[in-house]
Amino acid sequence: MATAKLLLLVLAATSCCGAGAWELRGGLRKMPPAVEAAAERLREDVAAPVIHALRPLVGSAGDLAGVPCDSWRLAVEAHNKIDWATVPASCEGYVGNYMFGGHYRRDSRFVVDEAIAYAEGLKLGGNGKEVWVFDIDETSLSNLPYYAKHGFGTKPYNATSFNAYVLEGSAPVLPETQRLFKKLISLGIKPVFLTGRTEDQRAITVANLRRQGYSGWMKLLLKPVGLKASAVAYKSDERRKLQDAGYLIVGNIGDQWSDILGAPEGARTFKLPDPLYYIG
Ligand SMILES: *[C@@H]1O[C@H](CO)[C@@H](O)[C@H](O)[C@H]1NC(C)=O
Ligand SMILES: [Mg+2]
Repeated sequence: MATAKLLLLVLAATSCCGAGAWELRGGLRKMPPAVEAAAERLREDVAAPVIHALRPLVGSAGDLAGVPCDSWRLAVEAHNKIDWATVPASCEGYVGNYMFGGHYRRDSRFVVDEAIAYAEGLKLGGNGKEVWVFDIDETSLSNLPYYAKHGFGTKPYNATSFNAYVLEGSAPVLPETQRLFKKLISLGIKPVFLTGRTEDQRAITVANLRRQGYSGWMKLLLKPVGLKASAVAYKSDERRKLQDAGYLIVGNIGDQWSDILGAPEGARTFKLPDPLYYIG
């Protein structure tokens, strides 16, 4: 039975955090070639996605009345589920496994591969006016160390503790995005950071970006302190200003739909995965 075969592949999720927290439980037995081939592909990515094979339909509690976490995540990524405040409590384990188990990294890699293929195919004008807009949080830098300690999005947003984390300037790089960033510079397309972080966080944000290996951006646009505007309104307004200044926004990448909605969006937009929180 398919379920039995999948069980052979299942990884044991241990109690806490970190990329190495999931280890193979026992060895893989002799399996039919198709299953063996699937297992081989999964091993490449520390086999994290198979965690979900064990519980594809319900939250980590295993409660049959629970939220179907994989359907929930798909609805979130497709922007069918909007304006949500927290990850369903029963999906904390699912989201944790997704983020740390290799699946998140693999999904991000796929997005960036598409973005790079698109960028490499662009015919540039030769006037240095092409720019690419990058969001920062969960796009260029990761706040996963914070969210791992705060229930993987299952707890209501706490501005006090989150801002304290931001001010540490310790957010790690998202390596796939950085690969795109560097590729664009080598192609002659100028990166512009456009973030919902506020102007008073400029110094720590610059320090954090530099520590994590970013350099050579054209602009870093932060939200004025006290500006009352939705993310869509603020970000599209800033993109409009870039366009009015003569720049051509050839690409735009973010983890929120509010990064990529609202004219001018950019000639092409790329949505990175983010099951942790929603910004409207
Ligand atoms: C938010 O975080 C701060 C700082 O850690 C803490 O003192 C406060 O109790 C938290 N608020 C809530 C509602 O959990
Ligand atoms: Mg973001």
